[in-house]
Amino acid sequence: MEPTMSYALELRCRSCGKTFALAPQAGCDECFAPLEVHYDLERAQRELRPETFRSRPANMWRYRELLPLPALPAGAISTTQLQIGWTPLQPAPRLARVLGVRELYIKNDAVNFPTLSFKDRVVAVALENAQAFGMKTVACSSTGNLANAVAAQAAALGLQAFIFTPADLEPAKIAATLVYGARLVQITGNYDQVNRLCGEIAQNLPWGIVNVNLRPFYAEGSKTVGYEIAEQLGWELPDALVCPMAGGSLITKIHKSFQELRQLGWARNATQIHGAQATGCSPIATAFKRDQREIEPQKPQTIARSLAIGDPADGSFALDAIRASEGACEDASDGEITQAMRLLAETEGIFAETAGGVTVACAQKLLRQGRIRAQARLVLVITGNGLKTLDAITPALPEPVRLPPRYRAFEDYLSTFATATPADPVLV
Ligand SMILES: Cc1ncc(COP(=O)(O)O)c(C=O)c1O
Ligand SMILES: [Zn+2]
Repeated sequence: MEPTMSYALELRCRSCGKTFALAPQAGCDECFAPLEVHYDLERAQRELRPETFRSRPANMWRYRELLPLPALPAGAISTTQLQIGWTPLQPAPRLARVLGVRELYIKNDAVNFPTLSFKDRVVAVALENAQAFGMKTVACSSTGNLANAVAAQAAALGLQAFIFTPADLEPAKIAATLVYGARLVQITGNYDQVNRLCGEIAQNLPWGIVNVNLRPFYAEGSKTVGYEIAEQLGWELPDALVCPMAGGSLITKIHKSFQELRQLGWARNATQIHGAQATGCSPIATAFKRDQREIEPQKPQTIARSLAIGDPADGSFALDAIRASEGACEDASDGEITQAMRLLAETEGIFAETAGGVTVACAQKLLRQGRIRAQARLVLVITGNGLKTLDAITPALPEPVRLPPRYRAFEDYLSTFATATPADPVLV
């Protein structure tokens, strides 16, 4: 890859505007609000053209100027060597027909590299910065996907990883953390308790905790979902987008990416940004529906464990993004989540995890309510892979048929399809 030339300037407090150097820091020392990376976008506008990206490799690093990417110490392995991002934006005509929308696309991060979720993007930016800051040990608090991404990339870079999760993580997400040699620490508590513990660890140890003291850098990685959608649509923004929310960072950063593209003059149209949560953990959607500014923390109870964050760090910023873009929020019950996972798989051949079920089910509700227009060009952000949450979907699936290895038995089985004739699809 060519040397990095990032337009990142400084960290800025999202609340009071105080500025800080690009260094590890969890939040503002004056008002404790989250920090955000700021860029010299005027210079970027003078020097960069959208066509610049066309000839670059198909991964998230094609937008490197718009990410905080510092120079690395000699001998470090860069995450920019990893082929992360540029996941498919798949047209979804069969699902569009069922949902009743004119033009539908799936942004499919269920097939992201290396660990099959959008978290690979955020971790890559965080670990690049961790290495630049001289950190040898990285860590995270996680509902599962972040655990997998940190464990895998730490292994690839030769860093030590400690992963902190609630004790009730899905079996696939546990295995897909341990296999990389990461130390998995299961805490007997919910995610919000795990996260508070990681806040204390960050104050006591010189570690890079990707979603605590590296959070401003980590969060920027999510912007690449938005840049890719825009470029894949020929530098046009969709009319509407539905995104799942846990801590509320991804949706906030997709909104930021679209704003930056408008500021750069590369895209013009407005996008309504809609947020999706599980009913059993819906602090952001509830605040939206009650027209409140404050988020009231909840105790999560949902099969969508990757979204089970009861006290979302970026909840109020997610609300701001949704309201500013004239979007809305919805939530989906466990039954609606599994039904929507099946619908996405059966119509488009995409097996998403529970968070994807949340997104599809909420999109269906928003369309029924007219919050998303039937004439819209709509993008659904699918963020994780169904093979990681088999325990959630398996009880909702039919039993497979079991037969002896004889044609007669198969013929008998076929005859149970009452309407089956030689013209039926089941027989051709
Ligand atoms: C699959 C999946 N989708 C969406 C999210 C939500 O991301 P955020 O916490 O940035 O709102 C997560 C977070 O863990 C996730 O694992
Ligand atoms: Zn501040």
